Amino acid sequence: MITKNLKETEELAKEFITCVQDKVLDTGATVVAMEGDLGAGKTTFVKAVAKEFGVENTVTSPTFVIEKIYKLENQAYENLIHIDAYRLKSGEELKALGWEEVSKNPKNIIFIEWPSNVEEVLPEDKQEISFKFIDENTREIMW
Ligand SMILES: Nc1ncnc2c1ncn2[C@@H]1O[C@H](COP(=O)(O)OP(=O)(O)OP(=O)(O)O)[C@@H](O)[C@H]1O
Ligand SMILES: [Mg+2]
Repeated sequence: MITKNLKETEELAKEFITCVQDKVLDTGATVVAMEGDLGAGKTTFVKAVAKEFGVENTVTSPTFVIEKIYKLENQAYENLIHIDAYRLKSGEELKALGWEEVSKNPKNIIFIEWPSNVEEVLPEDKQEISFKFIDENTREIMW
């Protein structure tokens, strides 16, 4: 899908969570791997998802803190977890941040930027979204 502005990206985020909520797993967290270059719109998409889930705190990029956890109220999930693996070199580093614990909880929905850096610890049944820069205001978002 092509989005030409923030509003369209927010609409896509809404559509994505509507689809994903129908498939809540009982085996573990819902993991969403977001592929795409710098500035392609991954963090922007998670902000839109958080807004849709009713998160009131401002969602900022977790580049420096790696992981942020937002509590959700009255939603299909209890926690929205936003991970930026840009600075991680392996799945082991993600494990050191408590990955096993958060990824086994079906009440968690986890969005990961730069998933290829930690690929070996991600579940096979992860959802994948790709983001592509088309021009200044246009992005292609696919799942
Ligand atoms: N149609 C659009 N959808 C989403 N973002 C857009 C769109 N057009 C322009 N932008 C802008 O593109 C930028 C995307 O930045 P964002 O931080 O979301 O990228 P990112 O993929 O998380 O990058 P990084 O890998 O550096 O974390 C934002 O400044 C946003 O306002
Ligand atoms: Mg980002």
